[in-house]
Amino acid sequence: MQFVAKKTTIHTQKNTCAVVFCYKEQLLDSAASLNDAIKKSIKHQIKEGALTKSQPALWLTFTPDTSIKFSRLLLINLDAVLTGSLTKPKKGEIAFTPADLRSLSALIATTLYTANVKQASVFIDDFLDQFNTALTYDDVAHQISIAVSTQYYQFALPDTKNNQAKSLNVCLSTQNNKTLKQLKLGLLSGEPTALGINTARYLGDLPGNICTPSYLAEQAKCLATGCKALTVKVVNEKQMEKLSMHSFLSVSKGSSEEGKLICLEYKGSKSSSAPQLLIGKGITFDTGGISLKPGAGMDEMKYDMCGAASVMGVFHALVNMEANVHVVGIIAAAENMPNSNASKPGDIVTSMSGQTIEILNTDAEGRLVLCDALTYAERYKPKAVIDIATLTGACIVALGKHASAVYSNEQKLADALIASGEKTHDRAWQMPLWDDYQQQLNSNFADMANIGGPGGGSITAACFLSRYAKKYPWAHLDIAGTAWLNGPKKGATGRPVKMLLDYVLNN
Ligand code: BES
Ligand code: MN
Ligand code: ZN
Repeated sequence: MQFVAKKTTIHTQKNTCAVVFCYKEQLLDSAASLNDAIKKSIKHQIKEGALTKSQPALWLTFTPDTSIKFSRLLLINLDAVLTGSLTKPKKGEIAFTPADLRSLSALIATTLYTANVKQASVFIDDFLDQFNTALTYDDVAHQISIAVSTQYYQFALPDTKNNQAKSLNVCLSTQNNKTLKQLKLGLLSGEPTALGINTARYLGDLPGNICTPSYLAEQAKCLATGCKALTVKVVNEKQMEKLSMHSFLSVSKGSSEEGKLICLEYKGSKSSSAPQLLIGKGITFDTGGISLKPGAGMDEMKYDMCGAASVMGVFHALVNMEANVHVVGIIAAAENMPNSNASKPGDIVTSMSGQTIEILNTDAEGRLVLCDALTYAERYKPKAVIDIATLTGACIVALGKHASAVYSNEQKLADALIASGEKTHDRAWQMPLWDDYQQQLNSNFADMANIGGPGGGSITAACFLSRYAKKYPWAHLDIAGTAWLNGPKKGATGRPVKMLLDYVLNN
C-alpha cells in the first residue's frame, strides 16, 4: 500500500485507473482535469442511461489514443452517495458532510479492491468547491487513505507471506500548490492512523496460542526499536510479587503463560507536559477460569486483549507520525485459565492499593488485572488515565455493537473522549457512575466483591475500577461490543484507535 499526492492531470498519468467524480453531469463541465473528448464521451454514456441514482460507480473503457494514457476510468456518481440536501445542484446549496466523505471513501476503496486495481489516480479537483461543506482536501486525503488501507487489511499468520494479498498504490491528484499541500497533510495523519487501526486488528485477530502475554511484550519492544521517543519496560510476575500486585497475579496464576505488565512511554522531543496514560486490558485468552465459560463461541475470547491491541495501535501510529505528545501505555497482559493453581470462587486477594477483593466469579478477571494497573499508573503522575477493556457482556446488552461505553470521574474528560469519537466516527456513549450502584459490590469478607449481581453489569464493573482511580482524572471505555465483529464478518475492528489517537493528539 502506497499513497502519494501529486500535482498532475489525467492526461499525463500512464497505466493507472483514473477515478473521477461527477454530480448530475455538473462536475464534468467544470472538471479541469478532463479534456473535452473524455467529457463528451462520459456525457454520451450518461445520456444513454449508464449512470443512474442507484448506480454509485461506473467503469468506463476507452480505446487508447494519444490523449488517453490511463488504463481504466472509474466514474463516481456523487448523486448516489451524498445524503445531504439535494434540491438544486448549484454551488453552495448542496451539503457534503463528513458522513458523505466516509461513504464516498468506502465506495472508492471497495470498488478498487473488488476490481483488483493495482494503481489508481484519484482526481480530487473540481468537486469540493461545488458543495456547501467545511471539509478540505486535507480531510479527503485523510479519509481515503484510511478507507483504502483498512479495506486492504488481510489476516496472515506471522512470518508468512500471503501471496493472495492485494495491494494498491494511490495517487491523489490535484492541480495547484495549495491543495497539494493539504493533500500531503491529510496523508501524514491518515496513513499512520490506518496503520494503527490495522495493527490493533491484527493483534486482535491473532489466536491465543500465538498472541500470548510474552508475544505482546515482544511486539511492544519491536515498536520501540529504532525509535528514540519510545521506551518499553516489561514487569514480570516476580517483580509484580514485589509490588504486591496480588489481584493481577490471581488471574495469571492459573496459566502456564506468564503474565506481563507492559509499559510503553512515548515522549515527543518537544513535549514536557504530564502524560496522558492509556491502560489496555490484555487477556490474551479468557476461558473464564474455574468459573468456566460455555463452549459455544469461546474462540472469540481471543479478542479479550483488544483493549491492549488498541493501545499498541495508538503507539504504532504515534511512532509513525513522530507526534509531539507525551503518552504512557500500560498493558495488563495475562491468560485466564483453569488449572489446579487457579483462583477459586470465594478466594480473597489483596490488591496493590491495599484494598481486599473477594473473587466471587473468576470470569470477572478483567477488573482484577486492571485495578492493579490503575494503581501502578500513579507513579507516572498522569494528566489523565483512560482504560480500554472488553470488560462485560452486559455492555453489549446495553449498547449493542455501535457504541463503546464511557464512564468517567470527570465530566470534562468524558466530553473530550465523546467529542473525539464523534469527530472520527468511533463513537462512545456515556453511562452513569452513580454511587447508588456501588453497594452491589459489598462483600461480607473483603472490602469488595469482584461482581455486582445481575443488574447493570457494565456499570458495576466500572464502579469496581473507580475505587482504584481516585488520584487522577480517569475514564473507562468498555469496548466489549465494538472491538470485534462476529458472524461471517468475524474480525477485529481496530476500535477505538481512531478515537484515542484524536484524543491524545488534541489534549
Ligand atoms: N471478557 C469478558 C467480557 C465479554 C464477554 C466481552 C463476551 C465480550 C463478549 C469478561 O471477562 C467477562 O467474562 N465478564 C463477565 C462478568 C460477569 C462474570 C460479572 C460477563 O460479562 O459475563
Ligand atoms: Mn471473563
Ligand atoms: Zn475477560
